[in-house]
Amino acid sequence: MNTATLLHLDASPRSARSHSRQLGREFVATWQTNHPTGQVVTRDLAATPPPFVGEGWIESAFTPSAGHSPAAQTAIAVSNAYVDELLSATEIVITTPIYNLSIPAVPKAWIDQIARFGRTFNKSAQGFDGLVTGKKVRILVASGSDFRPNTPGGAYNFLEPYLRAVLGFIGLTDVEFVYAHSLNQGSEVSAQAITDAVAASRKLAAA
Ligand SMILES: Cc1cc2nc3c(=O)[nH]c(=O)nc-3n(C[C@H](O)[C@H](O)[C@H](O)COP(=O)(O)O)c2cc1C
Repeated sequence: MNTATLLHLDASPRSARSHSRQLGREFVATWQTNHPTGQVVTRDLAATPPPFVGEGWIESAFTPSAGHSPAAQTAIAVSNAYVDELLSATEIVITTPIYNLSIPAVPKAWIDQIARFGRTFNKSAQGFDGLVTGKKVRILVASGSDFRPNTPGGAYNFLEPYLRAVLGFIGLTDVEFVYAHSLNQGSEVSAQAITDAVAASRKLAAA
């Protein structure tokens, strides 16, 4: 049996003041209590943003390796490191703000690095096959407004449907969300939302 390994990704450019990072710290602390011999691999996507997909990356990802330019080899080596890290994890926690109705550019750059034909998904006559199966993904979200699904603001939430679709595409279908919402709606409302989101994050981490 593999050692339990939690891949912990943070995406907020804020550090101490970030509410999504706060949820991540609570999640990790509870997870470690429940997995005393487990390993946590942390990637601060905001501090070290993944590179954008460029021409060399595309050359490497879709053509045989013989004859790849040095730039293409370098680009795909970076992507391979992200993919290896994802495949080695037994569970994933992603913390992120909502920016302009969806995820910030930094976690999108990570998704562009790990969505790889032949490594994280394949295509057959029947359609697409996700290759990253059997891992839980927990997504801890902070937002200024209330964009939770099934609220009036939910119509503006393109983060959750997008992440469910793209993670499902690569095989990750056990995905749950926690929202620290309404953080710009006054101190009392936001304090309650954070308290609730911390409790929900701890509960998911203990499950
Ligand atoms: C550039 C930018 C865009 C934002 N867009 C939204 C948005 O579309 N919906 C929303 O509810 N809050 C939005 N917010 C508010 C953030 O989601 C909120 O401040 C959140 O707490 C940020 O996460 P953090 O505390 O982890 O840094 C935006 C904030 C910034 C800076």
